[in-house]
Amino acid sequence: MALIVLVGPMGAGKTTVGTLLAKKLRLPFKDSDAEIEARTGADIPWIFDVEGEQGFRDRETQVLKDLLAMPEGVIATGGGIVMREENRVLLKPVQVVYLRASLNEQLRRTANDRKRPLLQTENPRAVLERLMTIRDPLYRDIATQIIETDGANSRSIATKLARQY
Ligand code: S3P
Repeated sequence: MALIVLVGPMGAGKTTVGTLLAKKLRLPFKDSDAEIEARTGADIPWIFDVEGEQGFRDRETQVLKDLLAMPEGVIATGGGIVMREENRVLLKPVQVVYLRASLNEQLRRTANDRKRPLLQTENPRAVLERLMTIRDPLYRDIATQIIETDGANSRSIATKLARQY
């Protein structure tokens, strides 16, 4: 039985790779952001607006706990999942794949995106850079595997991962 969690920055391809991987392994796929939105009945920008980032993070931790209770499946997480120590403790015993992407790729893949509140700023590059400085060591700390996604397509990453399970 496999429970696989994908972590990494915004624009790393966690949702795309996770969907493909789950299909290949015939496992359920869950996306923590989608789950938060479904439970709240509102989208992420609305949650940030009304409840603040703190409110979003509270919801995220609850969803993570519930998703990790699944006996098997593929879970794509939001880029900030590693910000809370509580979440990192929950993820430590699990198979965690860190999908890495360069800053340029993160920027390219999130360009013109309106659904990520943290990037609704004059200078998304500076935000992504700052977040990576903080989060890269945290992703590494909990990862059982690190995959560089620059120059690789999601299908080939999912195929490679699926061979291991
Ligand atoms: C966030 C990443 C987003 C989403 C929210 C906050 C972050 O998920 O959870 O906007 O803090 O990096 P993706 O990584 O799927 O874009």
